[in-house]
Amino acid sequence: MAGAQVHMAQIVLPAHANHRGELSAGQLLKWIDTTACLAAEKYADIPCVTASVDDIQFEETARVGQIVSINAKVNRAFTTSMEVGVKVTLQDPLTNIRKLISVAFSTYVTKPTGDNKVNLKQVELLSAQDHLEHTLAAERRKIRLDHENVFKNLMKECTTDDDMLDLVCNKEEDAVSTDLTRVQSIELVLPPHANHQGNTFGGQIMAWMETVATISASRLCRLPPTLKSVDMFKFRGPSTVGDRLIFNAIVNNTFGERVEVGVRVEAYNCEEWAKGQARHINSAFFIFNAVNKNGELLTFPRVRSATKDGLRRYHGAIARKRIRLARKYALLEKEDNCIPDPWNQGNQVYIIKSNIAALTALAAKPGWEITSTLGNIKVFSLVEKDSLSIKIEMQVHVPSELAFSLLSDFTLHVHWDPHCLTCRVLESVTKEDKIYHITSPSVNGNKPNDFLVLVSQKKPSEAGDPYIIAVRSVALTSVPPSNKDYCRSEIQCAGFLIYSGDNSSLVSYFNQGTPGIMPYFATNLGDLSKSVEKTASMCIQFLELESSKINSI
Ligand code: COA
Ligand code: ADP
Repeated sequence: MAGAQVHMAQIVLPAHANHRGELSAGQLLKWIDTTACLAAEKYADIPCVTASVDDIQFEETARVGQIVSINAKVNRAFTTSMEVGVKVTLQDPLTNIRKLISVAFSTYVTKPTGDNKVNLKQVELLSAQDHLEHTLAAERRKIRLDHENVFKNLMKECTTDDDMLDLVCNKEEDAVSTDLTRVQSIELVLPPHANHQGNTFGGQIMAWMETVATISASRLCRLPPTLKSVDMFKFRGPSTVGDRLIFNAIVNNTFGERVEVGVRVEAYNCEEWAKGQARHINSAFFIFNAVNKNGELLTFPRVRSATKDGLRRYHGAIARKRIRLARKYALLEKEDNCIPDPWNQGNQVYIIKSNIAALTALAAKPGWEITSTLGNIKVFSLVEKDSLSIKIEMQVHVPSELAFSLLSDFTLHVHWDPHCLTCRVLESVTKEDKIYHITSPSVNGNKPNDFLVLVSQKKPSEAGDPYIIAVRSVALTSVPPSNKDYCRSEIQCAGFLIYSGDNSSLVSYFNQGTPGIMPYFATNLGDLSKSVEKTASMCIQFLELESSKINSI
């Protein structure tokens, strides 16, 4: 057996569930932590404690009577810490249907008795999957250890001066005060909450945190909220039997159909309790949605806060959302065998048709969520099983027909898109379809990328339809990847939809996020959405400048 593996199987009983018969997320977090900790201890042969947990998403909710299986495996040992991967599935005993609930990655640190540190042996890799997980574990470790810095850097850019505070607090009249969502709770750590050394189980703390977070979110939506994800977090210091744990929670921000609740946990032993000296154990951020009785997702109201802390947290939630998105991009598994369709007489018509159709379908997909708003630029994301797509919506004071003609000629993109270094037409297939060769600048000393793309354009057939400019990669035998100078990248589905407004247009740029577009974006995690917004504002400037030149003639 490669690494150490541990399996847990549970039947969801009423005691594990909420009043709707759904497995409580807190209970699930406890099972995940216990299974992962046992895998770590099996591998290390000594007690271990939870150091951190990466972002967890919950895809499905298990119900009373269903079977939950949890498989944990040590993917990689570092020095004193190791990454454990956990896969959680549910099985319905009546239908035998199995579904994935979640995939999680936690880090455990060896905790021997005494002060000495125990170094771990290397995991033995037996299968191709073991090798892949071992490599990805190193990538994930870089991200988790850099997490706090990335967040701090992004936060530095937020103004929190008094004028700004005033602006945010008075901006939206309908916004609900976050004060209504403030929750405090206390727990006494007893022996059943701890391991045999008396260290509180990380999963138990997570379960208590989830309870206060749920109460906080329900105050905003007046419905039972469902936990969708937990942001990456770290256990800062240990807690032991006898500790009093104080949990403080409040809603930090809302994003349409999602709400972020932050929870801070502090511990006091008897002496510290008397002196009022707290130990900061953990802070975590929980994302919920809520469904009404008709099964529709609720849109959360905007929130406001009258305090400086509240404003900082409001911005903090936006920064975390951006980083989560960037983390997803960075961790999409690299597909080496991603070969675009060859371009030949037999399939040209199909490729052209599917180009426009794929972009239209991507735009129409449900589930686009707003990620950030900066003036007239809005960034949305769409998370699916194996991809993550972005949409950038730009309001431009340019008639739509002009925006269409300026954007559909890709040779003009070199004037505004920093990712487009050179662009030349290789083949004019029809009046509406052209094949371009695009090169993009090198990022971080890596080889620059090049793209062979088919750009197809379509004017509206009826009033209200958008102008469409669809982009996708093709393979030409006459221009094979050069390997020496460029790394050939693929664009699966991208492009623009342009809607007419009153002498203005709403331009939406889409890109279906596959590993190929990763280098097209960011040099580091925090830069991802900044780079997107910067490119969008350069696009707007270019369009408006060209339009004013035409008007002044
Ligand atoms: N995520 C993952 N691993 C982390 C981490 C994080 N956020 N922060 C530190 N680590 C790893 C380090 O990389 C190091 O691993 P390595 O030896 O394999 O390189 C290991 O933890 C120890 O790091 P070190 O710098 O010596 O210690 P630290 O002062 O940063 O403390 C903990 C790290 C986790 C040991 C400490 O914060 C702790 O005791 N936390 C409480 C753990 C606990 O009791 N959990 C149960 C619930 S309360
Ligand atoms: P930050 O305030 O920078 O987010 P903290 O670790 O202090 O970091 O707190 C984490 C989260 O816990 C906060 O974002 C907030 O949601 C919640 N929180 C912290 N302190 C309180 C409090 N006194 N009352 C209610 N909620 C709190």
